Amino acid sequence: MATDGGETSPVAGDADDRAHAARTVAIEVAALRKSFGELAVLKGIDLTVRAGEVVCVIGPSGSGKSTLLRCVNLLEEPTSGTVRVAGTEVTGPDVDLDQVRRRIGMVFQAFNLFPHLTVLGNLTIAQRRVLRRGKEEAEDVARSNLRRVGLTEKEGSYPAPLSGGQQQRVAIARALSMGPELMLFDEPTSALDPELVGDVLAVMRRLADEGMTMLVVTHEMSFAREVADRVVFMDDGVIVEEGPPRQLIGEPRLARTRAFLSRVLDPAAAEVLEQGRE
Ligand SMILES: Nc1ncnc2c1ncn2[C@@H]1O[C@H](COP(=O)(O)OP(=O)(O)OP(=O)(O)O)[C@@H](O)[C@H]1O
Ligand SMILES: [Mg+2]
Repeated sequence: MATDGGETSPVAGDADDRAHAARTVAIEVAALRKSFGELAVLKGIDLTVRAGEVVCVIGPSGSGKSTLLRCVNLLEEPTSGTVRVAGTEVTGPDVDLDQVRRRIGMVFQAFNLFPHLTVLGNLTIAQRRVLRRGKEEAEDVARSNLRRVGLTEKEGSYPAPLSGGQQQRVAIARALSMGPELMLFDEPTSALDPELVGDVLAVMRRLADEGMTMLVVTHEMSFAREVADRVVFMDDGVIVEEGPPRQLIGEPRLARTRAFLSRVLDPAAAEVLEQGRE
């Protein structure tokens, strides 16, 4: 009679497997609730993101997407529930906030570059002040990340003359220069003119290909479809439905998800998705 384990493996092997499984969880959100006064914004969120995974979060305005991201890097203090980043409970009482945030890169809709600093200055200032890197090392790191976002030639420029897309790529390079273990993106392209969106998404796609763990709030359904391992649909403070993009965007199970998607997917985009199914 077959036992549960089938072929028995050595106990040490099981332990290794368990250790591996533990290591590969990058973000673990459990029973997360967040209220602002009387307003319950997150109503019990459970979400696991594994190392190297790209998870896109979609949902209507006000559903709590930004609040979820902000609870992950503790820009907001959860009302209850836990958040673990790479196995460390960041919602614990003795957590070092600065250390947690150092491990997590965040890119917002607004680029928040220092206008009085050059691109290189913007990329080195936190490395030097927070990570205490020397000038030369910080500049080397900055230049290698400018190369990653395709802006090597802009290191001496100030932010103002750069396009929105270029400024956002600088903001991504700045986050990468801190050597984060994972990256959170909150609608990184929604402030951009349509013709500039593609360059930013291309940079994000490359990051994903390199194996970066990414949690991305976005309205770019084609990006979610092509790049995400999983898509999470949030509405009214809960995760309504999640799944691989092909399933969640292509064949959502629930009426609420379908209603949202039919609002955001215009006919042209829907056609592209259809073609992508082949
Ligand atoms: N600091 C705050 N104080 C009070 N209410 C807040 C605060 N931050 C967010 N909220 C409220 O929480 C709800 C969810 O906001 P959140 O920004 O997380 O939504 P969202 O899904 O990111 O929306 P959008 O797509 O418009 O960015 C909204 O009703 C918002 O007004
Ligand atoms: Mg938001």
